[in-house]
Amino acid sequence: MKKILFGVVVGICLPLLAGYLFVVSGGMPVATKGPPLPLEKFLAHKALAAAIGTEASKPSPLPADEPNLLAGAHVYQAQCAVCHGHLGQTESAIAAGMFPHPPQLLPPKKGVTDDDVGETYWKVKNGIRLTGMPGYGSCLSDNEMWQVSLLLLHADKLPDSAVAVLRKP
Ligand code: HEC
Repeated sequence: MKKILFGVVVGICLPLLAGYLFVVSGGMPVATKGPPLPLEKFLAHKALAAAIGTEASKPSPLPADEPNLLAGAHVYQAQCAVCHGHLGQTESAIAAGMFPHPPQLLPPKKGVTDDDVGETYWKVKNGIRLTGMPGYGSCLSDNEMWQVSLLLLHADKLPDSAVAVLRKP
């Protein structure tokens, strides 16, 4: 019985000690340059998908008409373009220096045009911890968050008025 208990304690403590030594010896990457840790992306995506859950299928309470897409373009320019890119321009220095890298969300990139609008809304509202993606739930109105989510869903087929706003530097 004692032997089993000893085995269990060692089995728990050794991995914890190894993890601690890995961190304090500088093994853990903390700079933005460099590859992700093994399984880091996989686990982060699984955790995010689990947190969003059924909220992803929430439909937009607003229609994807021109006034809403235009309003979404203004929100995007003011709040998102610095990281996710201006239309027709190269990535900003801020975006290039971040880890994880903020995906460019406007054409010619596919962005999130194939994600559910409810999923994008969730990310805009809550943010994604430890990535640099801010949560806007306390500074944008619900309408503004849906409008920018609709804009990103329809990023490949926007009215000219919204495209003109997104082209501004
Ligand atoms: C300071 C930089 C920054 C700003 C500003 C920012 N984001 Fe992000 N965003 C990120 C990063 C970094 C990620 C990648 C997170 C990850 O890898 O999980 C991200 C991820 C996302 C995603 C998920 C993309 C995907 O492929 O699944 C969406 C959608 C998004 N952001 C929308 C927005 C919107 C809309 C705004 C403005 C209201 C915004 N972001 C503002 C940094 C930013």
